[in-house]
Amino acid sequence: MRRLLAALVATALTLAGTGTAAHATPEPGGAGIGDPYFPQYGNGGYDVSHYDIRLRYTPATDLLTGTTTILATATQDLSSFHLDFLLDVSSVRVNNRPATFARQGDHELVVTPARPITDDGAMTVVVQYSGVPSEKVDAGLGYSAWIRTPDGAMAVGQPEIAWWWFPSNDHPADKATFDVSVAVPNGVSAISNGDMPNFGPVPETLGYSRWSWRSLKPQAPYLAFVTIGKYDLSLDTTANGQPIWNAYSKLLPQATRNEAQASIERTAEITDWESTLFGPWPFEARGGVVAPPGTLGFALENQTRPNYSSAFWFSGSNTSVVVHENAHQWFGDSVSLSRWQDIWLNEGFATYAEWLWSEKNHEGTTQDLFDYLYATNPPNAPIWTAAPAAPGVANLFGPAVYDRGAMALHQLRLAVGDDDFFRILRTWAAEHRYGNATTVQFTRLAEKVSGRDLDALFRAWLYTPSKPALTTMAKRAPQAPKSWAQISRTHELLHEN
Ligand code: ARG
Ligand code: ZN
Repeated sequence: MRRLLAALVATALTLAGTGTAAHATPEPGGAGIGDPYFPQYGNGGYDVSHYDIRLRYTPATDLLTGTTTILATATQDLSSFHLDFLLDVSSVRVNNRPATFARQGDHELVVTPARPITDDGAMTVVVQYSGVPSEKVDAGLGYSAWIRTPDGAMAVGQPEIAWWWFPSNDHPADKATFDVSVAVPNGVSAISNGDMPNFGPVPETLGYSRWSWRSLKPQAPYLAFVTIGKYDLSLDTTANGQPIWNAYSKLLPQATRNEAQASIERTAEITDWESTLFGPWPFEARGGVVAPPGTLGFALENQTRPNYSSAFWFSGSNTSVVVHENAHQWFGDSVSLSRWQDIWLNEGFATYAEWLWSEKNHEGTTQDLFDYLYATNPPNAPIWTAAPAAPGVANLFGPAVYDRGAMALHQLRLAVGDDDFFRILRTWAAEHRYGNATTVQFTRLAEKVSGRDLDALFRAWLYTPSKPALTTMAKRAPQAPKSWAQISRTHELLHEN
Protein backbone atom coordinates (compact mmCIF):
# COMPACT_ATOMS: atom_id res chain seq x y z
CA MET A 1 0.00 0.00 0.00
CA ARG A 2 2.65 2.46 1.09
CA ARG A 3 4.37 2.73 -2.30
CA LEU A 4 1.30 3.51 -4.36
CA LEU A 5 1.84 7.26 -4.30
CA ALA A 6 5.48 6.91 -5.31
CA ALA A 7 4.37 4.70 -8.20
CA LEU A 8 1.84 7.25 -9.40
CA VAL A 9 4.50 9.96 -9.30
CA ALA A 10 6.93 7.71 -11.19
CA THR A 11 4.27 7.01 -13.83
CA ALA A 12 3.61 10.73 -14.22
CA LEU A 13 7.32 11.37 -14.65
CA THR A 14 7.59 8.60 -17.24
CA LEU A 15 4.66 10.02 -19.17
CA ALA A 16 6.30 13.43 -19.07
CA GLY A 17 9.38 11.88 -20.64
CA THR A 18 11.67 12.63 -17.70
CA GLY A 19 11.70 9.23 -15.98
CA THR A 20 14.73 7.86 -17.73
CA ALA A 21 16.71 6.66 -14.71
CA ALA A 22 18.88 3.64 -15.50
CA HIS A 23 17.69 0.39 -13.93
CA ALA A 24 19.73 -2.36 -12.37
CA THR A 25 19.57 -5.89 -13.76
CA PRO A 26 16.19 -7.36 -12.76
CA GLU A 27 16.47 -9.96 -10.01
CA PRO A 28 14.12 -12.50 -8.48
CA GLY A 29 11.97 -11.23 -5.60
CA GLY A 30 12.62 -12.94 -2.26
CA ALA A 31 10.71 -16.00 -1.03
CA GLY A 32 10.02 -14.32 2.34
CA ILE A 33 9.33 -10.79 3.56
CA GLY A 34 12.01 -11.05 6.26
CA ASP A 35 10.18 -12.14 9.41
CA PRO A 36 12.71 -13.67 11.84
CA TYR A 37 10.12 -16.13 13.26
CA PHE A 38 8.79 -17.21 9.83
CA PRO A 39 11.44 -16.59 7.14
CA GLN A 40 9.15 -18.07 4.43
CA TYR A 41 6.05 -15.96 5.14
CA GLY A 42 5.24 -13.16 2.75
CA ASN A 43 7.51 -12.32 -0.17
CA GLY A 44 10.04 -9.71 -1.25
CA GLY A 45 10.15 -7.25 -4.14
CA TYR A 46 6.62 -5.90 -4.34
CA ASP A 47 3.88 -4.27 -2.30
CA VAL A 48 0.17 -5.09 -2.76
CA SER A 49 -2.48 -2.35 -2.66
CA HIS A 50 -5.63 -4.34 -3.53
CA TYR A 51 -6.97 -7.91 -3.81
CA ASP A 52 -10.01 -8.74 -5.93
CA ILE A 53 -11.02 -12.30 -5.02
CA ARG A 54 -13.80 -13.80 -7.14
CA LEU A 55 -14.71 -17.41 -6.32
CA ARG A 56 -17.25 -20.20 -6.64
CA TYR A 57 -17.66 -22.78 -3.87
CA THR A 58 -19.60 -26.03 -3.63
CA PRO A 59 -20.08 -27.27 -0.05
CA ALA A 60 -20.85 -30.87 -1.08
CA THR A 61 -17.47 -31.37 -2.77
CA ASP A 62 -15.38 -28.65 -1.09
CA LEU A 63 -14.37 -27.49 -4.56
CA LEU A 64 -13.19 -23.88 -4.71
CA THR A 65 -12.55 -22.30 -8.10
CA GLY A 66 -11.95 -18.75 -9.19
CA THR A 67 -9.73 -15.83 -9.98
CA THR A 68 -7.77 -13.45 -7.79
CA THR A 69 -6.54 -10.17 -9.24
CA ILE A 70 -3.71 -8.49 -7.35
CA LEU A 71 -2.79 -4.83 -7.79
CA ALA A 72 0.77 -4.22 -6.65
CA THR A 73 3.86 -2.08 -7.12
CA ALA A 74 7.37 -3.46 -7.57
CA THR A 75 9.88 -2.35 -4.93
CA GLN A 76 12.86 -3.48 -7.02
CA ASP A 77 13.56 -4.46 -10.63
CA LEU A 78 11.94 -7.90 -10.77
CA SER A 79 12.69 -10.81 -13.08
CA SER A 80 10.34 -13.05 -11.08
CA PHE A 81 8.40 -12.93 -7.81
CA HIS A 82 6.70 -15.23 -5.33
CA LEU A 83 3.10 -15.58 -4.22
CA ASP A 84 2.02 -17.62 -1.17
CA PHE A 85 -0.58 -20.17 -2.23
CA LEU A 86 -1.46 -23.89 -1.96
CA LEU A 87 -4.24 -24.57 -4.49
CA ASP A 88 -3.68 -25.69 -8.09
CA VAL A 89 -3.07 -22.81 -10.48
CA SER A 90 -4.15 -23.01 -14.12
CA SER A 91 -2.94 -19.65 -15.39
CA VAL A 92 -1.17 -16.48 -14.35
CA ARG A 93 -1.11 -13.21 -16.26
CA VAL A 94 1.07 -10.24 -15.36
CA ASN A 95 0.44 -6.85 -16.94
CA ASN A 96 -1.74 -8.22 -19.73
CA ARG A 97 0.63 -11.02 -20.80
CA PRO A 98 0.65 -14.71 -19.89
CA ALA A 99 3.34 -15.49 -17.32
CA THR A 100 5.06 -18.77 -16.50
CA PHE A 101 4.76 -20.16 -13.00
CA ALA A 102 6.19 -23.00 -10.94
CA ARG A 103 5.64 -24.36 -7.46
CA GLN A 104 8.51 -24.17 -4.99
CA GLY A 105 8.02 -26.13 -1.79
CA ASP A 106 4.44 -26.33 -0.50
CA HIS A 107 3.11 -22.81 -0.34
CA GLU A 108 5.32 -20.81 -2.71
CA LEU A 109 4.32 -20.06 -6.29
CA VAL A 110 7.12 -18.52 -8.38
CA VAL A 111 5.82 -16.30 -11.18
CA THR A 112 8.02 -15.21 -14.09
CA PRO A 113 6.42 -12.40 -16.09
CA ALA A 114 6.92 -12.22 -19.86
CA ARG A 115 8.78 -8.96 -19.36
CA PRO A 116 10.66 -7.89 -16.22
CA ILE A 117 8.99 -5.34 -13.97
CA THR A 118 10.88 -2.18 -13.16
CA ASP A 119 11.26 -0.75 -9.68
CA ASP A 120 8.17 1.30 -8.78
CA GLY A 121 6.37 -0.20 -11.76
CA ALA A 122 2.71 -1.19 -11.47
CA MET A 123 1.87 -4.91 -11.49
CA THR A 124 -1.53 -6.40 -12.26
CA VAL A 125 -1.42 -10.11 -11.51
CA VAL A 126 -4.36 -12.36 -12.44
CA VAL A 127 -4.31 -15.89 -11.04
CA GLN A 128 -6.85 -18.55 -12.03
CA TYR A 129 -7.13 -21.62 -9.82
CA SER A 130 -9.17 -24.44 -8.39
CA GLY A 131 -8.79 -27.02 -5.68
CA VAL A 132 -10.16 -28.77 -2.63
CA PRO A 133 -8.70 -26.68 0.20
CA SER A 134 -9.27 -29.26 2.95
CA GLU A 135 -6.97 -31.65 1.04
CA LYS A 136 -4.07 -29.21 0.92
CA VAL A 137 -1.85 -29.88 3.91
CA ASP A 138 1.13 -27.59 4.29
CA ALA A 139 4.12 -29.80 5.17
CA GLY A 140 5.63 -27.18 7.48
CA LEU A 141 2.42 -26.75 9.48
CA GLY A 142 1.21 -30.33 9.06
CA TYR A 143 -2.47 -29.49 8.56
CA SER A 144 -5.06 -27.70 6.45
CA ALA A 145 -6.25 -24.52 8.16
CA TRP A 146 -9.37 -24.49 5.95
CA ILE A 147 -12.31 -25.63 8.08
CA ARG A 148 -15.08 -27.70 6.50
CA THR A 149 -18.41 -27.51 8.30
CA PRO A 150 -21.58 -29.63 7.91
CA ASP A 151 -23.08 -27.02 5.54
CA GLY A 152 -20.09 -25.09 4.19
CA ALA A 153 -16.59 -23.98 5.14
CA MET A 154 -14.58 -21.28 6.90
CA ALA A 155 -11.33 -19.55 5.98
CA VAL A 156 -10.55 -18.18 9.45
CA GLY A 157 -7.05 -18.59 10.90
CA GLN A 158 -3.86 -17.09 12.30
CA PRO A 159 -1.01 -16.77 11.51
CA GLU A 160 -1.80 -18.58 8.23
CA ILE A 161 -5.08 -18.93 6.33
CA ALA A 162 -4.74 -17.02 3.02
CA TRP A 163 -2.72 -19.88 1.45
CA TRP A 164 -5.89 -22.02 1.27
CA TRP A 165 -8.12 -19.57 -0.58
CA PHE A 166 -6.28 -16.76 -2.40
CA PRO A 167 -2.73 -16.11 -3.63
CA SER A 168 -1.11 -13.28 -1.66
CA ASN A 169 1.88 -11.62 -0.11
CA ASP A 170 0.91 -13.29 3.12
CA HIS A 171 2.31 -11.17 5.92
CA PRO A 172 0.68 -8.43 8.03
CA ALA A 173 3.50 -6.10 6.94
CA ASP A 174 1.84 -5.85 3.49
CA LYS A 175 -1.74 -4.63 3.97
CA ALA A 176 -4.22 -3.99 1.17
CA THR A 177 -7.90 -3.35 0.54
CA PHE A 178 -10.13 -6.31 -0.40
CA ASP A 179 -13.09 -7.18 -2.61
CA VAL A 180 -14.31 -10.71 -1.85
CA SER A 181 -17.05 -12.21 -4.00
CA VAL A 182 -18.20 -15.82 -3.69
CA ALA A 183 -20.91 -17.69 -5.61
CA VAL A 184 -22.53 -20.46 -3.55
CA PRO A 185 -25.64 -22.65 -4.03
CA ASN A 186 -28.93 -20.83 -3.43
CA GLY A 187 -29.89 -20.94 0.23
CA VAL A 188 -26.25 -20.89 1.38
CA SER A 189 -24.62 -17.65 2.61
CA ALA A 190 -21.08 -16.42 2.02
CA ILE A 191 -19.92 -13.79 4.54
CA SER A 192 -16.73 -11.73 4.52
CA ASN A 193 -15.20 -8.48 5.80
CA GLY A 194 -16.60 -4.96 5.53
CA ASP A 195 -19.89 -4.11 3.90
CA MET A 196 -22.10 -5.83 1.32
CA PRO A 197 -23.20 -2.99 -1.00
CA ASN A 198 -25.81 -5.20 -2.76
CA PHE A 199 -27.52 -5.96 0.59
CA GLY A 200 -27.73 -9.62 -0.37
CA PRO A 201 -26.85 -12.27 -2.93
CA VAL A 202 -27.23 -11.69 -6.67
CA PRO A 203 -28.62 -14.72 -8.59
CA GLU A 204 -26.38 -16.46 -11.12
CA THR A 205 -27.19 -19.42 -13.35
CA LEU A 206 -27.34 -23.11 -12.35
CA GLY A 207 -28.77 -22.46 -8.89
CA TYR A 208 -25.92 -20.32 -7.55
CA SER A 209 -25.98 -16.83 -6.04
CA ARG A 210 -23.08 -14.42 -5.63
CA TRP A 211 -22.24 -12.63 -2.40
CA SER A 212 -19.95 -9.60 -2.75
CA TRP A 213 -18.19 -7.91 0.15
CA ARG A 214 -15.80 -4.99 0.27
CA SER A 215 -13.27 -4.04 2.96
CA LEU A 216 -12.17 -0.46 2.39
CA LYS A 217 -9.25 0.04 4.77
CA PRO A 218 -5.82 -1.61 4.56
CA GLN A 219 -6.19 -5.18 5.84
CA ALA A 220 -3.62 -7.88 6.63
CA PRO A 221 -4.14 -11.03 4.50
CA TYR A 222 -4.73 -13.26 7.57
CA LEU A 223 -7.58 -10.99 8.64
CA ALA A 224 -9.48 -11.54 5.38
CA PHE A 225 -12.10 -14.27 5.88
CA VAL A 226 -14.87 -16.10 4.14
CA THR A 227 -17.49 -18.06 6.08
CA ILE A 228 -19.89 -20.19 4.04
CA GLY A 229 -22.96 -22.08 5.25
CA LYS A 230 -26.57 -21.70 6.37
CA TYR A 231 -26.68 -18.55 8.46
CA ASP A 232 -29.23 -16.11 9.82
CA LEU A 233 -27.73 -12.85 8.62
CA SER A 234 -28.99 -9.49 9.81
CA LEU A 235 -28.23 -5.88 9.00
CA ASP A 236 -28.56 -3.08 11.52
CA THR A 237 -26.87 0.30 11.84
CA THR A 238 -24.95 2.02 14.61
CA ALA A 239 -25.88 5.42 16.00
CA ASN A 240 -23.41 6.98 13.53
CA GLY A 241 -24.89 5.07 10.60
CA GLN A 242 -22.38 2.24 10.12
CA PRO A 243 -23.64 -1.16 8.96
CA ILE A 244 -23.59 -4.00 11.50
CA TRP A 245 -23.77 -7.39 9.79
CA ASN A 246 -24.23 -10.24 12.27
CA ALA A 247 -24.49 -13.90 11.30
CA TYR A 248 -25.48 -16.93 13.39
CA SER A 249 -25.17 -20.47 12.10
CA LYS A 250 -28.58 -22.10 11.75
CA LEU A 251 -26.98 -25.21 13.32
CA LEU A 252 -26.60 -23.59 16.77
CA PRO A 253 -28.74 -25.12 19.54
CA GLN A 254 -31.34 -22.58 20.70
CA ALA A 255 -29.70 -22.02 24.11
CA THR A 256 -26.29 -21.36 22.54
CA ARG A 257 -27.91 -19.09 19.99
CA ASN A 258 -29.60 -17.08 22.74
CA GLU A 259 -26.38 -16.71 24.72
CA ALA A 260 -24.39 -15.75 21.62
CA GLN A 261 -27.00 -13.20 20.58
CA ALA A 262 -27.10 -11.71 24.08
CA SER A 263 -23.36 -11.04 23.64
CA ILE A 264 -22.81 -10.22 19.97
CA GLU A 265 -25.87 -7.99 19.64
CA ARG A 266 -23.96 -5.72 22.07
CA THR A 267 -21.11 -5.19 19.58
CA ALA A 268 -22.09 -1.56 18.83
CA GLU A 269 -22.30 -0.73 22.55
CA ILE A 270 -18.98 -2.46 23.29
CA THR A 271 -17.12 -0.87 20.37
CA ASP A 272 -18.52 2.56 21.23
CA TRP A 273 -17.23 2.09 24.79
CA GLU A 274 -13.84 0.95 23.43
CA SER A 275 -13.67 4.03 21.23
CA THR A 276 -13.91 6.23 24.35
CA LEU A 277 -10.69 4.52 25.53
CA PHE A 278 -8.73 3.92 22.30
CA GLY A 279 -9.99 6.56 19.85
CA PRO A 280 -12.45 6.41 16.95
CA TRP A 281 -13.52 3.02 15.55
CA PRO A 282 -11.08 2.56 12.64
CA PHE A 283 -13.37 0.84 10.11
CA GLU A 284 -16.50 1.26 7.99
CA ALA A 285 -18.57 -1.63 9.32
CA ARG A 286 -18.94 -3.92 12.35
CA GLY A 287 -20.48 -7.25 13.29
CA GLY A 288 -19.80 -10.84 14.29
CA VAL A 289 -20.14 -14.37 12.94
CA VAL A 290 -20.85 -17.46 15.09
CA ALA A 291 -19.74 -20.80 13.60
CA PRO A 292 -21.60 -24.12 13.80
CA PRO A 293 -20.84 -26.26 16.89
CA GLY A 294 -17.72 -28.43 16.68
CA THR A 295 -16.07 -26.48 13.85
CA LEU A 296 -14.07 -23.33 14.64
CA GLY A 297 -12.32 -23.82 18.01
CA PHE A 298 -11.27 -20.25 18.75
CA ALA A 299 -12.22 -16.68 17.83
CA LEU A 300 -10.45 -14.44 15.38
CA GLU A 301 -10.41 -10.65 15.08
CA ASN A 302 -11.22 -10.61 11.34
CA GLN A 303 -11.21 -6.98 10.21
CA THR A 304 -14.56 -5.25 10.85
CA ARG A 305 -16.22 -8.57 11.83
CA PRO A 306 -14.76 -11.23 14.17
CA ASN A 307 -15.61 -14.93 13.81
CA TYR A 308 -16.45 -16.78 17.02
CA SER A 309 -16.47 -20.43 18.03
CA SER A 310 -19.83 -21.44 19.52
CA ALA A 311 -17.81 -22.85 22.45
CA PHE A 312 -17.52 -19.33 23.93
CA TRP A 313 -21.15 -19.70 24.98
CA PHE A 314 -21.13 -22.36 27.64
CA SER A 315 -23.07 -20.87 30.55
CA GLY A 316 -24.82 -17.65 29.71
CA SER A 317 -23.64 -14.62 27.78
CA ASN A 318 -19.92 -13.99 27.23
CA THR A 319 -19.15 -10.36 26.49
CA SER A 320 -15.43 -10.77 27.37
CA VAL A 321 -14.71 -12.43 24.05
CA VAL A 322 -16.63 -9.71 22.17
CA VAL A 323 -14.61 -7.05 24.00
CA HIS A 324 -11.37 -8.96 23.22
CA GLU A 325 -11.94 -9.48 19.50
CA ASN A 326 -13.15 -5.95 18.94
CA ALA A 327 -10.25 -4.40 20.90
CA HIS A 328 -8.08 -6.12 18.28
CA GLN A 329 -9.68 -3.89 15.64
CA TRP A 330 -7.48 -1.09 17.05
CA PHE A 331 -4.63 -3.35 18.24
CA GLY A 332 -3.77 -5.86 15.53
CA ASP A 333 -6.06 -4.85 12.67
CA SER A 334 -5.63 -1.07 12.34
CA VAL A 335 -2.19 -1.06 14.01
CA SER A 336 -0.70 -4.30 12.70
CA LEU A 337 2.42 -6.29 13.46
CA SER A 338 5.60 -5.72 11.49
CA ARG A 339 6.80 -9.14 12.66
CA TRP A 340 5.03 -11.99 14.44
CA GLN A 341 7.37 -11.83 17.43
CA ASP A 342 5.55 -8.68 18.62
CA ILE A 343 2.20 -10.50 18.96
CA TRP A 344 1.82 -9.24 22.58
CA LEU A 345 1.02 -5.83 20.99
CA ASN A 346 -2.19 -7.54 19.81
CA GLU A 347 -2.99 -10.07 22.53
CA GLY A 348 -1.78 -8.22 25.64
CA PHE A 349 -3.80 -5.15 24.63
CA ALA A 350 -6.97 -7.12 23.78
CA THR A 351 -6.67 -8.94 27.13
CA TYR A 352 -6.28 -5.65 28.98
CA ALA A 353 -9.49 -4.46 27.31
CA GLU A 354 -11.27 -7.44 28.93
CA TRP A 355 -9.89 -6.34 32.32
CA LEU A 356 -11.15 -2.79 31.77
CA TRP A 357 -14.59 -4.22 30.88
CA SER A 358 -14.57 -6.29 34.08
CA GLU A 359 -13.79 -3.16 36.09
CA LYS A 360 -16.50 -1.13 34.36
CA ASN A 361 -19.02 -3.85 35.18
CA HIS A 362 -17.94 -4.14 38.84
CA GLU A 363 -16.80 -7.73 38.36
CA GLY A 364 -13.24 -7.14 39.56
CA THR A 365 -10.83 -4.26 38.97
CA THR A 366 -7.79 -4.39 36.70
CA GLN A 367 -5.72 -4.43 39.91
CA ASP A 368 -7.73 -7.41 41.23
CA LEU A 369 -7.05 -9.31 38.01
CA PHE A 370 -3.35 -8.43 38.11
CA ASP A 371 -3.08 -9.49 41.78
CA TYR A 372 -4.93 -12.73 41.16
CA LEU A 373 -2.66 -13.72 38.26
CA TYR A 374 0.47 -12.71 40.15
CA ALA A 375 -0.50 -14.63 43.29
CA THR A 376 -1.74 -17.79 41.59
CA ASN A 377 1.14 -18.30 39.12
CA PRO A 378 4.28 -19.74 40.77
CA PRO A 379 7.69 -18.88 39.23
CA ASN A 380 7.71 -21.98 37.01
CA ALA A 381 4.29 -21.24 35.46
CA PRO A 382 4.23 -20.77 31.65
CA ILE A 383 3.14 -17.15 32.09
CA TRP A 384 6.66 -16.38 33.43
CA THR A 385 8.90 -18.83 31.56
CA ALA A 386 8.35 -17.06 28.21
CA ALA A 387 8.89 -13.32 27.65
CA PRO A 388 5.90 -11.49 26.08
CA ALA A 389 8.04 -9.54 23.59
CA ALA A 390 10.22 -12.56 22.66
CA PRO A 391 7.92 -15.56 23.25
CA GLY A 392 9.31 -17.93 20.60
CA VAL A 393 7.22 -19.48 17.83
CA ALA A 394 5.77 -22.15 20.15
CA ASN A 395 4.30 -19.57 22.56
CA LEU A 396 2.80 -17.07 20.09
CA PHE A 397 -0.68 -17.68 21.49
CA GLY A 398 0.33 -18.64 25.03
CA PRO A 399 -0.46 -17.09 28.43
CA ALA A 400 2.84 -15.16 28.56
CA VAL A 401 1.67 -13.19 25.52
CA TYR A 402 -1.95 -12.70 26.64
CA ASP A 403 -2.00 -12.52 30.45
CA ARG A 404 1.51 -11.33 31.13
CA GLY A 405 1.20 -8.91 28.19
CA ALA A 406 -1.81 -7.39 29.98
CA MET A 407 0.12 -7.41 33.28
CA ALA A 408 2.95 -5.48 31.58
CA LEU A 409 0.44 -2.85 30.47
CA HIS A 410 -0.94 -2.67 34.00
CA GLN A 411 2.58 -2.07 35.38
CA LEU A 412 3.03 0.68 32.79
CA ARG A 413 -0.26 2.24 33.91
CA LEU A 414 0.80 2.17 37.57
CA ALA A 415 4.13 3.79 36.67
CA VAL A 416 2.83 6.63 34.48
CA GLY A 417 -0.68 7.21 35.87
CA ASP A 418 -4.07 6.93 34.18
CA ASP A 419 -3.88 10.14 32.12
CA ASP A 420 -0.59 9.29 30.47
CA PHE A 421 -1.46 5.60 30.13
CA PHE A 422 -4.62 6.20 28.13
CA ARG A 423 -2.88 8.98 26.20
CA ILE A 424 -0.20 6.42 25.23
CA LEU A 425 -2.85 3.94 24.01
CA ARG A 426 -4.73 6.57 22.00
CA THR A 427 -1.55 8.05 20.51
CA TRP A 428 -0.39 4.55 19.55
CA ALA A 429 -3.69 3.83 17.77
CA ALA A 430 -3.65 7.23 16.04
CA GLU A 431 0.02 7.38 14.99
CA HIS A 432 0.06 3.92 13.44
CA ARG A 433 -3.53 3.83 12.18
CA TYR A 434 -3.81 1.53 9.11
CA GLY A 435 -0.09 0.79 9.40
CA ASN A 436 2.42 -1.43 11.16
CA ALA A 437 4.55 -1.08 14.28
CA THR A 438 6.99 -2.84 16.62
CA THR A 439 7.45 -3.25 20.38
CA VAL A 440 10.40 -0.83 20.39
CA GLN A 441 8.20 1.84 18.80
CA PHE A 442 5.67 1.28 21.61
CA THR A 443 8.15 1.47 24.47
CA ARG A 444 9.71 4.62 22.95
CA LEU A 445 6.27 6.22 22.66
CA ALA A 446 5.49 5.36 26.29
CA GLU A 447 8.72 7.05 27.38
CA LYS A 448 8.06 10.08 25.19
CA VAL A 449 4.48 10.63 26.39
CA SER A 450 5.30 10.06 30.06
CA GLY A 451 8.75 11.70 30.05
CA ARG A 452 10.05 8.76 32.10
CA ASP A 453 12.80 6.22 31.72
CA LEU A 454 10.85 2.94 31.58
CA ASP A 455 13.76 0.72 30.64
CA ALA A 456 13.80 -1.39 33.80
CA LEU A 457 10.02 -1.84 33.76
CA PHE A 458 9.91 -3.07 30.16
CA ARG A 459 13.00 -5.24 30.62
CA ALA A 460 11.39 -7.05 33.56
CA TRP A 461 7.85 -7.32 32.19
CA LEU A 462 8.42 -7.77 28.44
CA TYR A 463 11.87 -9.21 27.84
CA THR A 464 12.80 -11.43 30.81
CA PRO A 465 11.58 -15.05 30.96
CA SER A 466 11.12 -15.10 34.73
CA LYS A 467 8.70 -13.78 37.37
CA PRO A 468 9.35 -10.09 38.03
CA ALA A 469 9.58 -8.96 41.67
CA LEU A 470 6.97 -6.55 43.04
CA THR A 471 7.72 -3.77 45.49
CA THR A 472 4.42 -4.39 47.28
CA MET A 473 3.22 -7.94 47.64
CA ALA A 474 -0.20 -9.33 48.40
CA LYS A 475 0.05 -11.17 51.72
CA ARG A 476 -2.14 -14.08 50.68
CA ALA A 477 -3.68 -15.24 47.45
CA PRO A 478 -6.66 -12.98 46.73
CA GLN A 479 -10.10 -14.26 45.80
CA ALA A 480 -10.76 -14.84 42.14
CA PRO A 481 -12.43 -11.73 40.70
CA LYS A 482 -16.03 -12.34 39.62
CA SER A 483 -15.08 -11.99 35.92
CA TRP A 484 -12.36 -14.63 36.23
CA ALA A 485 -14.44 -17.68 35.27
CA GLN A 486 -15.47 -16.13 31.95
CA ILE A 487 -12.08 -14.58 31.16
CA SER A 488 -10.10 -17.73 31.95
CA ARG A 489 -12.39 -20.06 29.99
CA THR A 490 -12.31 -17.64 27.05
CA HIS A 491 -8.52 -17.66 27.12
CA GLU A 492 -8.32 -21.47 27.32
CA LEU A 493 -10.06 -21.58 23.95
CA LEU A 494 -7.89 -18.83 22.43
CA HIS A 495 -4.68 -20.53 23.63
CA GLU A 496 -5.29 -24.15 22.75
CA ASN A 497 -6.52 -24.14 19.17
N1 ARG B 1 -5.95 -13.98 17.75
C1 ARG B 1 -6.97 -14.85 18.27
C2 ARG B 1 -7.48 -14.16 19.51
O1 ARG B 1 -6.83 -14.07 20.50
C3 ARG B 1 -6.49 -16.19 18.65
C4 ARG B 1 -6.12 -17.06 17.52
C5 ARG B 1 -5.69 -18.37 18.01
N2 ARG B 1 -5.06 -19.06 16.97
C6 ARG B 1 -4.19 -20.01 17.17
N3 ARG B 1 -3.60 -20.52 16.13
N4 ARG B 1 -3.91 -20.40 18.36
O2 ARG B 1 -8.49 -13.60 19.51
ZN1 ZN C 1 -6.72 -12.05 20.80
